[in-house]
Amino acid sequence: MCGIVGAIAERNVIPLLLEGLKRLEYRGYDSAGLAVLTWGDGLQRARALGKVAILEAQVQGMGLSGPLGIAHTRWATHGAPAERNAHPHISCDRLALVHNGIIENHAELRARLTALGYSFTSETDTEVAAHWIEHRLRETGDLLSAVQQAVMDFEGAYALGVITVAQPDRLVAARKGSPLVIGLGIGENFMASDVAALLPVTQRFIFLEDGDLAELRRESVVVYDAQGAIVERPVKLSSLTAAAAEKGPYRHFMQKEIFEQPRAVADTLEGRIAGARVLEGIFGAAADEVFQRIRQVQIIACGTSFHAGLTARYWFEDILGLPCQVEVASEFRYRNPVISEDALFVTLSQSGETADTLAALKNVKARRPTVATLTICNVPESSLARESDLVFMTHAGPEIGVASTKAFTTQLIALALLLVSIGKVQGRLTDNQEARIVQGLSRIPGKIADALAKEDRILALSEKLVHKQHALFLGRGAMYPIALEGALKLKEISYIHAEAYPAGELKHGPLALVDESMPVIAIAPQDDLLAKLTSNLEEVRARGGELFVFADETAGVEASEGIHVVPVTSNVGRISAPIIFTIPLQLLAYHVAVLRGTDVDKPRNLAKSVTVE
Ligand code: M6R
Repeated sequence: MCGIVGAIAERNVIPLLLEGLKRLEYRGYDSAGLAVLTWGDGLQRARALGKVAILEAQVQGMGLSGPLGIAHTRWATHGAPAERNAHPHISCDRLALVHNGIIENHAELRARLTALGYSFTSETDTEVAAHWIEHRLRETGDLLSAVQQAVMDFEGAYALGVITVAQPDRLVAARKGSPLVIGLGIGENFMASDVAALLPVTQRFIFLEDGDLAELRRESVVVYDAQGAIVERPVKLSSLTAAAAEKGPYRHFMQKEIFEQPRAVADTLEGRIAGARVLEGIFGAAADEVFQRIRQVQIIACGTSFHAGLTARYWFEDILGLPCQVEVASEFRYRNPVISEDALFVTLSQSGETADTLAALKNVKARRPTVATLTICNVPESSLARESDLVFMTHAGPEIGVASTKAFTTQLIALALLLVSIGKVQGRLTDNQEARIVQGLSRIPGKIADALAKEDRILALSEKLVHKQHALFLGRGAMYPIALEGALKLKEISYIHAEAYPAGELKHGPLALVDESMPVIAIAPQDDLLAKLTSNLEEVRARGGELFVFADETAGVEASEGIHVVPVTSNVGRISAPIIFTIPLQLLAYHVAVLRGTDVDKPRNLAKSVTVE
């Protein structure tokens, strides 16, 4: 979704605005722009359709420089991707604004502004916001007051950065429903949609609360709450370095993130297990009391995070006998679900900012304020983390590729730790079972490394898939969500149409699709369902379907004409297996996409963090 960067300094801010935009590219965008208050030539703007590099060339050509500026990557919502709709939007040649979110009552405000004599050059809700603040600036003569008054009239979600030639010594930021952080420098201050954008210039951050406004000057940052009172927000030190959000020797962020998984899993386990035990209190001091009283788990998430939840459902019900439901947030938030007092509501999210997941959590809390909530996410201080009673951070490190990889495997680790923690408190798990699970978890980094070492074989399979139009993924039990995840990876980055089915459903419909042009990708772990899966695969082969099987080394699935087999792992339990079998599916999608020449890290039409509906 849209990305924002802003800076006020003594030096020229253009290079750091452009660097910030590049670091926000991963969020997904179709156009980019910046506005700067120049030394001597007033307010200047550059906007371009397409990549930040195009904007950069334009800015260099114009010779822009100045000490105060705002910049933006736009992911179109209102108005087509076009230069005229790109941000910043300027009002009356004196005020510039960047925005992430949606002003839902833009049509009404546009009509009122038109009656007041404002004219529009774009179809965006953001230009409405720019004019509305300018209109208030005429009344108040002060940018902060103008923004404070204007946002009271906005319905919807926003993160805003606003500058004006009338007060060139300040930058005003505001947020409600969309993420925004303030970066603190020495004699200079910054704002951005996320920490990653500002890591080259600072590691000190203020995370604005919903409804906050901030006035940034070179030497100070003052934060106001929604009622206009000055508030102290804590300054947090980020442990991330600028290099954490760089590709290093890898060709793509997705490739880097796939190969980081042994470390990401080890980091997520570190400090959470010791010897044969899961440590107490890893879900927070209040967790034991919550875990004691809950009688069911309700997981809410989107996309890949939803698949992690689906996988965990098998574990919770099978190992603990604890009822577990999993639902996509965009459905949950708009139906009228039963919210049981004895449920633990778990929101799962890499970013912690996904609009549907956040709205679902807020709905739950509004309807049942006393119900227990837990967020598992990868971004500290994210909106979901701040809305929940309990928080568990995965320590995957920044995930930049739009296709989620290490976030998924570390979420599964977090869910396994949750299972053990609840199981222990409720007496549903013996010490022996705990020890076996913990031993299995601590072997996962090594098992992932072994699976990654099969890359060459997977590359060879990718060459056979690259020209296909469709693919069918099959799994049974906890491998069904892994098949869903494999299909999602393939479709989102290679644009090959892919569907996943529980293998037992084949003859209830999808078998009709199978012929020699339909590749079928199957996951065959060594488990109770192996014999049933094998007969499903024979059904496919009998119809001429070409099989690509990722199998346990001991599963006895043999390669032959039309059957390609990659032995992935062996001797893994029911918690480890889904995590390990995810790895070849990620590599398969990655290599097919590279061979097809798609934009692997920023696939068309998609955004990394879906902060609008
Ligand atoms: O940040 P979240 O985990 O809440 O994001 C959820 C989905 O938008 C995300 O997993 C999406 O499906 C990915 N592109 C999948 O690779």
